[in-house]
Amino acid sequence: MSPPAARPGADAAVAIEFCGLTLAHPVINGSGTFDAIAARRAFGAALVRDFPFAAFVSKTITLAPRAGNPAPRLWETAGGLINSIGLPNKGLDGYLAEDLPQLAELLGARADAAEGPVPLITNVMGSSAQEFSALVTACDERAEIAAIELNVSCPNVATGLDIGADPRQLAQVVGACRTATRKPLIVKLTPNTADVPACALAAQEGGADAVSLINTLRAMALAPGAGGERGPWLGGGTGGLSGPAIRAVALAQVSAVAARVAIPVVGMGGVQRVAHARDLLDAGATLVAVGTETFRDPVAAMRIAEDLRAQS
Ligand SMILES: Cc1cc2nc3c(=O)[nH]c(=O)nc-3n(C[C@H](O)[C@H](O)[C@H](O)COP(=O)(O)O)c2cc1C
Repeated sequence: MSPPAARPGADAAVAIEFCGLTLAHPVINGSGTFDAIAARRAFGAALVRDFPFAAFVSKTITLAPRAGNPAPRLWETAGGLINSIGLPNKGLDGYLAEDLPQLAELLGARADAAEGPVPLITNVMGSSAQEFSALVTACDERAEIAAIELNVSCPNVATGLDIGADPRQLAQVVGACRTATRKPLIVKLTPNTADVPACALAAQEGGADAVSLINTLRAMALAPGAGGERGPWLGGGTGGLSGPAIRAVALAQVSAVAARVAIPVVGMGGVQRVAHARDLLDAGATLVAVGTETFRDPVAAMRIAEDLRAQS
């Protein structure tokens, strides 16, 4: 890990207020694309000293543990990646007991105490308002968690409809979560629906403090090989497309949502360089998140934050 010499966090010019949190700069990670605990093992003290993100978003946590989808889970496509990881996680209890203390220690152990800890945003997903509410209630009780992100790209157990694609259902789910916490609530919208701004508005009406977008676009790849029976390559059948291939879609959706809501927007999708981050910020985003690019360059977010600082 060889981060730039100057720490972007040290410069007040790019510090930013977001939902009552003070962030050192406007670049965070996309949920599920950076395993901070594994990175700590690989990079040791360098990761603590030069943490690449201004806030850290956990991968999605569900009430019960999930094994994730069968292999294969990844397909590289032109300018992007299709993943069907399937949200493997230890479940709420495992996260709170095992991961949360490690994350809090890692994010709190900064060389320069004046900067304070990197805020932790815990991303949760349920398949009903009750499940979401239980997850948020548990997160609310933990001081180590600064904010909660709701991943609403999940079908409702009862209706089978994607919660985040139905404004009425989404407002109910967010409303249930709102009564369970006063911590900042960020709703991660699904891009796989016709009217994303209507869903953003429903999230705002339900009491969200911010929305984030875009999540991955539903996508598919067929198993390579000529002739014969050609089924889906991915173990999960379909997956989610991310990376440069979705950047223009992200820009359009972020721009449309920012024009419609009064709450802050976290923009993401295909950000690789400062110009891409600048596009999302100019389209109305308050923060940008880096996801797939981090697999190629683990300090991409730090590079982008540094370049933003140089432009300011
Ligand atoms: C391998 C992988 C795992 C992901 N896991 C999650 C997840 O657990 N929860 C979530 O809300 N989004 C998840 N995402 C979506 C990203 O956070 C982000 O919204 C999306 O990838 C678009 O940004 P990008 O093009 O910069 O990757 C995942 C994406 C990838 C590529």
